[in-house]
Amino acid sequence: MNDPGVRLLFGRDEISRRVRELGASIAETYAGHAPGKLVLVGVLKGSSIFLADLIRAARVDAGVDFISISSYASDGPGSGVVRIVKDLEQEIAGKHVLLAEDIVDTGLTLTYLRKTLQARDPASLRTVTLIDKPARRLLPVPVDWVGFEAPDEFLLGYGLDYRGIYRNVPELFSVPDVARLALEPRTFVERLYPQHGP
Ligand code: PRP
Repeated sequence: MNDPGVRLLFGRDEISRRVRELGASIAETYAGHAPGKLVLVGVLKGSSIFLADLIRAARVDAGVDFISISSYASDGPGSGVVRIVKDLEQEIAGKHVLLAEDIVDTGLTLTYLRKTLQARDPASLRTVTLIDKPARRLLPVPVDWVGFEAPDEFLLGYGLDYRGIYRNVPELFSVPDVARLALEPRTFVERLYPQHGP
């Protein structure tokens, strides 16, 4: 088997430990809030894996909702012009909203989401992200909890995808040669989904 050259950035145990720490810190912050007033908002699709683990690690009563946005390709990459594809199903006025992201990269998505949700008068609006790539930031944006800082490399696994797949890889990998993902998919599948365990 050819080695696709992926690099393990964060393994299962490290992710699990960090998610537990984030959960404890989040629970401490929201302890004593009025029951039913905290809602964890997952930004689809990348945050789904992280959110599922995080909400169980945070010992605090919290609702869950999801939002999905998409960039307007016609405005070009990095334009920051986005639209809501799927909106929240609940009103958030007067609620404590915690946005959960898998990654903050340029900051354009989070900036748009914060502006959009802030306009709905939540009691508070905070953000937790599993991965922060500060080197890529185009817009400064507040992030309250960061799981890991990552270098400016292509990442996949634990929610992060390449063309819609690999989100269910339990670890986080860096891929130095992204072109190989398209050219040799079988090599990556064999490496990232070992048949006899990791
Ligand atoms: C990813 C990620 C963030 C956004 C961050 O979403 O989940 O929402 O990019 O990038 P930014 O800071 O440069 O705006 P993506 O559009 O890849 O969708 P996905 O979550 O469905 O993979």
